[in-house]
Amino acid sequence: MRPHNALKDVKSLFKMIVENQKMKVRKFSPADLKHIVEIERSSFAIDAFSKFTFMNFYYKRKCLFIIAEVLGVISGYMTTCIANEKGHVVSIAVSPSHRCKGIGKALVNYTLDHLKKSSIKILELEVRTTNLKGIGFWKKMGFYPLNIISHYYHDGTAALKMRKLL
Ligand SMILES: CC(C)(COP(=O)(O)OP(=O)(O)OC[C@H]1O[C@@H](n2cnc3c(N)ncnc32)[C@H](O)[C@@H]1OP(=O)(O)O)[C@@H](O)C(=O)NCCC(=O)NCCS
Repeated sequence: MRPHNALKDVKSLFKMIVENQKMKVRKFSPADLKHIVEIERSSFAIDAFSKFTFMNFYYKRKCLFIIAEVLGVISGYMTTCIANEKGHVVSIAVSPSHRCKGIGKALVNYTLDHLKKSSIKILELEVRTTNLKGIGFWKKMGFYPLNIISHYYHDGTAALKMRKLL
């Protein structure tokens, strides 16, 4: 078998595993930190959160910090905090080799269920206006654009604020 065919087979096998519910979404535990930081660094360059920031989310009572695990491999994470009766997505990232297999969607759905149980009716987020893939993903998840916040990020890039009603 040619190497690129073998790679294609591995990818479709992985998709099948995710689709067949072999993926688990669960709350973050400190033992996951090393893997989360790796995913973070490979997903966000200058905006990458530190270990310290992640541990802060873990300790904050009003934050939901979840991870996705596929056959024991930590493949993604999502953090969402609640303030003023609104949910706010702080960050989400899926390991580059595990993207487009439904992991991001599973993390968002878990978060939506959690927020609904807590009677939260609004979920918002900011995404770089230059992150067209991210914006496409959020639109697919049912978020709509609210407004643009100029100079939102450290490098001066604007953010698109998006909202979903639950
Ligand atoms: C954004 C991100 C979390 C999406 O995770 P993912 O696991 O690749 O997404 P999924 O496979 O779960 O996709 C869910 C749905 O969104 C769609 N989608 C994903 N990326 C998309 C895009 N760029 N444009 C349009 N739709 C998109 C998928 O087709 C899928 O639709 P379906 O349910 O009809 O099949 C992932 O790409 C990532 O980590 N990106 C880098 C970090 C980042 O940009 N985070 C967001 C910053 S706010």
